[in-house]
Amino acid sequence: MPKILVTGGTGYIGSHTVVELLEEGMEVVIIDNLSNSEREVLHGIAAITGTEPHFEEVDLRDRNATYGVFDLHPDIEAIIHFAAFKAVGESVEKPLDYYENNLLSLIHLLEAMNKFKVDNLVFSSSCTVYGEPDVLPVTESAALKKAGSPYGNTKKISEDILQDTMRSLKGKGVISLRYFNPIGAHPSAKIGELPLGTPNNLVPFITQTAAGIRESLSIFGDDYNTPDGSAIRDYINVVDLALAHVKAIRRLLDQKQLSAFEVFNLGTGKGLSVFEIIKAFEKTTGEKLNYKVVGRREGDIEKVYADTSYANSELGWRAEKGIEETLQSAWNWEMNIRSKNKRT
Ligand code: NAD
Ligand code: UD1
Repeated sequence: MPKILVTGGTGYIGSHTVVELLEEGMEVVIIDNLSNSEREVLHGIAAITGTEPHFEEVDLRDRNATYGVFDLHPDIEAIIHFAAFKAVGESVEKPLDYYENNLLSLIHLLEAMNKFKVDNLVFSSSCTVYGEPDVLPVTESAALKKAGSPYGNTKKISEDILQDTMRSLKGKGVISLRYFNPIGAHPSAKIGELPLGTPNNLVPFITQTAAGIRESLSIFGDDYNTPDGSAIRDYINVVDLALAHVKAIRRLLDQKQLSAFEVFNLGTGKGLSVFEIIKAFEKTTGEKLNYKVVGRREGDIEKVYADTSYANSELGWRAEKGIEETLQSAWNWEMNIRSKNKRT
């Protein structure tokens, strides 16, 4: 069975992907510096799968330490690169930290792929590269817009770096996966999202409000040009998202005639408004949510959702889980971490 290196493997999407890779019988090596995750996540992964992944506490900004992992595991066949800083607001405050972490980590991995002859890489990109799209649903060939934040720009620059590097390297394959809005948690509630401090994203804010940690959810604008006035996004279940990575790894390992750089949208293909998410959450959990409408959040776009036909036909992947099941999983996870009193 192939050995896969997963950077950022104790993080939110990484941990769910590690679970699915282990369930497929693949061997997993995680690199994470625990800057935005906890070692305990490894126990959750082991409790679900019955298998402990290898774990290397390494900072990818450290080139020699990164090379050390490849020395230790010379049989790594493919890499999934999740590790990055991802807070949009923080990236505006500390742009250089974001450029340094997100770009240097990628460059060191690409250098390692060259040095240690690893041919396959899956990269975590984002629908943020499309900005406010001119045509919906948005396809992979849509024009990329100027990034709305330094974080978003690191994704755009990373894709450019990957494309340029692949042009110069023969026989390597890269798949860039552009995630829409990942939400929810593993159905076991043993792993999930652990936002530090006050969450910026909608669903963790909803579950913390329902749990009484936050007083009220602020809805950022009800004057958009949408049916109910609130903004529209494509919310994708994190386990569905994780399964797409397994497909991408299989595609890279199985096919030798790949074009060097491929891009796939990962979403459901369906846009939901903030009000629709609140309604679905209240319906499935039976919880009543405190909320109020406030002004628009700076930098937000009106609506974006994916055309997923390329991922459906070429990757053989589609999102399976419905929104209520997904929101229920987020709620179960919130209840679980609350019962363990892990968050203040
Ligand atoms: P996360 O913060 O939960 O996971 C990222 C992990 O990378 C963390 O465990 C962190 O400790 C680790 N890390 C960061 N810098 C590192 C470094 N220099 N060396 C080693 N480890 C490092 O984030 P996530 O939500 O799981 O996101 C994973 C990837 O997906 C990121 O690249 C993110 O930009 C991208 N993405 C996320 C979303 C989303 O909504 N969560 C949407 C689009 C794209
Ligand atoms: C944000 C980031 C995006 C990133 C994505 C996933 C911005 C501008 N964009 O996307 O780059 O890839 O997270 O990490 O930050 N909302 C509320 N109240 C809240 C929180 C959110 O009404 O308390 C609304 C937002 O206005 C938006 C929707 O809910 O319409 C989803 O918001 P969020 O979860 O933050 O994701 P995005 O803004 O789509």
